[in-house]
Amino acid sequence: MDCSSGNAYLMAPTHGGVVFSVSRERVRGMDPGETGAALRVGCGVDADFSAVYRIMVQVRPSHEADIPVMERIERVCFASDRLARRQFHYLLTRGHALMLTALVDAQIQGYGLLLLRRNSRAARLYSLAIHPGSRRAGLGRMVLRALEKAARALGLTSIHLEVRADNTPAIAFYQGLGYRSFAVHLDYYADHQDACRMRKRLDTQ
Ligand SMILES: CC(C)(COP(=O)(O)OP(=O)(O)OC[C@H]1O[C@@H](n2cnc3c(N)ncnc32)[C@H](O)[C@@H]1OP(=O)(O)O)[C@@H](O)C(=O)NCCC(=O)NCCS
Repeated sequence: MDCSSGNAYLMAPTHGGVVFSVSRERVRGMDPGETGAALRVGCGVDADFSAVYRIMVQVRPSHEADIPVMERIERVCFASDRLARRQFHYLLTRGHALMLTALVDAQIQGYGLLLLRRNSRAARLYSLAIHPGSRRAGLGRMVLRALEKAARALGLTSIHLEVRADNTPAIAFYQGLGYRSFAVHLDYYADHQDACRMRKRLDTQ
């Protein structure tokens, strides 16, 4: 699968990598949880940032070996209704699904999962999660755009999803990528929270 469009978001890719200007102090001893901050700083053009580092950002099809890390990301991203190890395993091996993993400097920082249905041109975004330390750096957008590109290549015409009605950041994220609310599912989640149903047509953008 060609996911290079995902890399394009962060500009000027060289073999999928991106050059950022970041301060030496911010990078030394940085752990994966701080990558988002570095990416964020790196996107700026402040003359105070003296050193240039290459940060590799990659979106690729998920592997079974990714599952333990994806489980950890589920735990930090969702309070309930989490995907379990056996569900990841089923979806990756026997399910009719597309799953992409996002990595920053070879460390898994998130994933996105699209469920496909036979005889349907609509796909369902079942999950999308970026580690809190790597948010607001464009990774979520990169993953979703790569899923949309793959869906289009399969001839699919729309993607729909459910998001918690109180998940304002995620709703803003989806709206920014062209998803529109069209219905509410009352009492949808385990804790009785409503779901906002959103969708996007893939053949218009
Ligand atoms: C929703 C989520 C996937 C977004 O991932 P992300 O990598 O942080 O998003 P991006 O950096 O690609 O953001 C792209 C744009 O979306 C919007 N956006 C993202 N997070 C936002 C927030 N917290 N508040 C408002 N707008 C936000 C912004 O317009 C942003 O562009 P900008 O940073 O240039 O302003 C991430 O917040 C997440 O994993 N949340 C927890 C799990 C979750 O709720 N998943 C969705 C369940 S359906």
